[in-house]
Amino acid sequence: MSILYVINRIITCCLGARIALSLGTTTTATMVVKPPATRYDPNIMGSTLPGKQPSQPFYEGTTLHVRSYDSINNDDRPVIRGDARFYLDLARRSGGEVLEVGVGTGRVALQLVDTGLQVTGLDASAAMLAIAAEKAATRSLSDQLHLKLADMRSFDLPEHRFGLVIVPFRAFQVLLNPEDQLAALTSFHRHLKPGGILSLHLFDPDLRFLLPGSKGPVERQDGVDRQTGRRVEGVRERDQIDHVMQVRRDFWR
Ligand SMILES: C[S@@+](CC[C@H](N)C(=O)[O-])C[C@H]1O[C@@H](n2cnc3c(N)ncnc32)[C@H](O)[C@@H]1O
Repeated sequence: MSILYVINRIITCCLGARIALSLGTTTTATMVVKPPATRYDPNIMGSTLPGKQPSQPFYEGTTLHVRSYDSINNDDRPVIRGDARFYLDLARRSGGEVLEVGVGTGRVALQLVDTGLQVTGLDASAAMLAIAAEKAATRSLSDQLHLKLADMRSFDLPEHRFGLVIVPFRAFQVLLNPEDQLAALTSFHRHLKPGGILSLHLFDPDLRFLLPGSKGPVERQDGVDRQTGRRVEGVRERDQIDHVMQVRRDFWR
């Protein structure tokens, strides 16, 4: 499996909306592995955007990263602990419906709808959305969580303007170049009400992670699989660094 750390500098623009920044302290980890047999239907879970593909393959289909996402990335993880409360506070201040971009398996969105909010959750991965939909159905929250398969660089939700657009857990930083970043920011802006709030969770892209032989921001991760109850553990094995693109890729098992 591989973990990609994007170290490139992010262009952050204020497009006439307020921007709330929540800064994480370390870079994020994402991984790809050969998928084991899972109970997910590949026709539902396969990746799937016509034309533009999701910018990162590790959220596709039945990869182990998708399957183990909730085991590892739960609310106890220090880099995201308490973030749903932060977004809830913003939602109360902005009023109305919330758009979560990169909603994933619904970790944040479900906590917001649980308080009575209407949330639209957008993601480029059908696999992650399928898990979010399943969790919403289990909790009888499907009516409040509206899931959309779309790319953050080019989405269009006609007639929808939100008081709050959130992009939790560094999802914006999967975009590797200024063109993609600006396209996404323009899409966010188009969907904000006048005076609405855009909240991006970003990590500080520390160039020291590009030094040869430097340790990865994360060396080991673990959790418990929600279906089997088994312990899930990921260990970093090696890295590959592209100094020109300022991208670090870590390989995990
Ligand atoms: C780190 S996860 C965050 C999930 C969730 N918001 C959370 O906090 O647990 C990043 C999500 O961004 C999604 N993503 C990646 N590239 C995207 C794109 N271009 N457009 C929309 N979503 C994208 C991935 O599929 C993944 O679900």
